[in-house]
Amino acid sequence: MLSAPSNAAVLDALAALLGERGLITGSDTEPYCVDWRGLFRGRALAVARPASTTEVAAVVKLCAAHGVPVVPQGGNTGMVGGGVPTETGRELILSLSRMNRIRAVDPVDMSLVAEAGVPLQTAQEAAAVVGCLLPVSIGSEGSAQIGGIISTNAGGNNTVRYGNTRDLVLGLEVVLPDGSVWNGLRRLRKDNTGYCLRQLFAGAEGTLGVITAAVMKLVARPAVLGTAFCALPSAEAALAVFDRFQRRDAAGIQVFEYMSRRSVGLVTELIEGVGRAVETDAGHYLLIELGSINRDGNPSAVLEEVLADGFEAGLVLDAAIAQNEAQRRAIWRLREEHTEAQKRAGASLKNDVSVPVSRIPEFLARATAACEAAMPGIRVAPFGHIGDGNIHFNLVQPETMAPKDFAAESDRLMEIVNDVVVDLGGSFSAEHGIGRLKTHVLVARREAVELDLMRRIKAAIDPAGILNPGRILDH
Ligand code: FAD
Ligand code: MLT
Ligand code: ZN
Repeated sequence: MLSAPSNAAVLDALAALLGERGLITGSDTEPYCVDWRGLFRGRALAVARPASTTEVAAVVKLCAAHGVPVVPQGGNTGMVGGGVPTETGRELILSLSRMNRIRAVDPVDMSLVAEAGVPLQTAQEAAAVVGCLLPVSIGSEGSAQIGGIISTNAGGNNTVRYGNTRDLVLGLEVVLPDGSVWNGLRRLRKDNTGYCLRQLFAGAEGTLGVITAAVMKLVARPAVLGTAFCALPSAEAALAVFDRFQRRDAAGIQVFEYMSRRSVGLVTELIEGVGRAVETDAGHYLLIELGSINRDGNPSAVLEEVLADGFEAGLVLDAAIAQNEAQRRAIWRLREEHTEAQKRAGASLKNDVSVPVSRIPEFLARATAACEAAMPGIRVAPFGHIGDGNIHFNLVQPETMAPKDFAAESDRLMEIVNDVVVDLGGSFSAEHGIGRLKTHVLVARREAVELDLMRRIKAAIDPAGILNPGRILDH
């Protein structure tokens, strides 16, 4: 434990290193010490805001020398509390926000080199300027940063077509826990030179290194998009429709998103200006987006054809295909406002789970029945990336319950859901990670060999436990 004088010495040294713009202390650190849902609140020694890789390295080296734990923070949009300090007041938040330069965009290499603090949306816009697509699509893209999406291996709406963020990382620059810098900013499509180090840091949630820059893979930008919203009688029908689209135009599927009656109802009830996209009230809905990189392609016609067949077969009850960008935006808002609507609905529990795609209907039925039996009045509001087998099986408190009473039941409810998930061969964290929220679940649900390997990797790279201690692996 650091004594007060050594805290002061560290702060003085940081101030000398980073200057006035680079260091935040006292009550000004508060906005950095809480996550966007208000679930995790802590205190920080200070917030360091380095502007270059050299400065990041110097900060980490200094902290390593004084035993000060470092918590990397990007846009602070994470779901599991990994970027928020604990209550000890000993941890230094290392914000990457000032490292916000796009270093290069190359339409021939199909790559983009960005510093860690570049907001995802800014990187997407830079890719669009050269006619390419950076295909990570998440509701938080205006705030989430390149370093954050890599560190959490963010999934999102385009995973069904292009994979998760780690599949798009060609190279990384990383500051290691001793302050040394690994420059792995290679733009290569092929590079079998030993262990794939960049994949160690992708999804490591800041526990192994601080990502300072990355080379992201770009893809051809679809020239035409078609977007539909449809109502379905069952989750089985949603999968049957997915299967029909895969057979008709697998490469065209950009987005295949599921929403339940309850999750859509919360959005239309709690978010101003968002209306229903189809008249029919159904138990299940899909947002489907198809793309064509060929200008002559007609994804809306493919949507119409497959959905009409589905209608004939009794799989589709109603559908709307966007006729212009305004209608497309309205359909998308219905999906994108899910997170905000559920935040407004009261206390909620996010179960970000995945099962094999074919098991989704069984998962939804069994987990819903189990939760409703465990807590009468609970509002089961599932939605998510059904094309990846990833459902946000979110549970909203009963209307009459106090939020704190619901929060006290979170672990019990999570276990009920996870029992079904594990039984179906699934994962208890599909895309949001472990952070501080699920360390105990990782210990309980992963095999000893797997946990031991993870602990040995952490010990080999960060033996002093300087980076994000207590995240992913509890100690
Ligand atoms: P932060 O929240 O700041 O940090 C997340 C973790 O990464 C922390 O452990 C932190 O220590 C570490 N970290 C951050 N930057 C670095 C760095 N440079 N080097 C090392 N470690 C670092 N997530 C999805 O996967 N799919 C979705 O569809 C999705 N939708 C969302 C919608 C909304 C409305 C919101 C609010 C969030 C959503 N998220 C989603 C969650 C979140 O946006 C992602 O996890 C995102 O990748 C986090 O990025 P960030 O920059 O905000 O990281
Ligand atoms: C999303 O896909 O919108 C988020 O990952 C889910 C959530 O808010 O639970
Ligand atoms: Zn999601």
